[in-house]
Amino acid sequence: MRSITVPADASRLPVTLPRIAEKKRLGEPLVMVTAYDYPSALAVDKAGVDLVLVGDSGAMTVLGYPSTVAVTLDELMVLAKAVRRGLTTPFMVADLPFGSYEVSDAQAVETAFRFVKEAGADAVKLEGGGEVSVARARAIVQAGIPVMGHVGLTPQTSTALGGYRAQGRTAEAATEVARQALALQEAGCFSVVFEAIPSAVAETVMPKMDALVIGIGAGPSTDGQVLVFHDLLGIREGRGARFVQRYADILDEMVSGVAAYADDVRTKRYPGPDHGYSIPDEELAAFKASLSS
Ligand code: KIV
Repeated sequence: MRSITVPADASRLPVTLPRIAEKKRLGEPLVMVTAYDYPSALAVDKAGVDLVLVGDSGAMTVLGYPSTVAVTLDELMVLAKAVRRGLTTPFMVADLPFGSYEVSDAQAVETAFRFVKEAGADAVKLEGGGEVSVARARAIVQAGIPVMGHVGLTPQTSTALGGYRAQGRTAEAATEVARQALALQEAGCFSVVFEAIPSAVAETVMPKMDALVIGIGAGPSTDGQVLVFHDLLGIREGRGARFVQRYADILDEMVSGVAAYADDVRTKRYPGPDHGYSIPDEELAAFKASLSS
């Protein structure tokens, strides 16, 4: 049996930007995971992760949309508020959904303020490192809200990228990923996610990154890693992307738990005597008498 160390409560200080920067400086890997509701927030909080992302992947994992494109700002706000209620120490990042930041700097800042003021997010994340995303990141940072960028495979614009596939696999494409990461850093992003790019490309860019780099399918050289809660715990059908490591099979557990309950109800094994409430004999007798009179 593998022994797992969860940081002791005493060492669980709130994760702040200075603590994140210090961990990067010391080369201590940072752990980020997504969460979308109160119970998933409780779980990741108790497990002692450093950063929690209320990802727009929630569109697919908990809302059942076919992609992240359809989820609305109001829907993600509900998820973010629920996550906030379950977190104590991790640094909470909220994803800006597709269409909630691209139109103008003012739209981006307004959306970011909603996540901070209404949902208690510590930072927001936006996808892409092109001109528009960099301008929006800069505007949000200037308004006083920490921003995490996201380059490589950016699911909101996956159609334009040719689908859910690794990016940066030619010299030209890798140069573009690097250019975007550096532009987001220059715009003031405290962190950038590298998604689905060759490990060697990430490793080559890392020495240029003062911002925290969180990888997902970008190899071991990044400052930290992120995985989607439902992927790592197996709360989904199928294995998911190549970079997913599964640590549990919770969907199977959920199905067998509900199936066992259904079987118990159908075979009258549930509810049993221990699941009911009692009433004093004299009260029951009086009740029966009143019903029959
Ligand atoms: O929405 C999300 O879950 C993400 C992570 C994969 C980085 O953006």
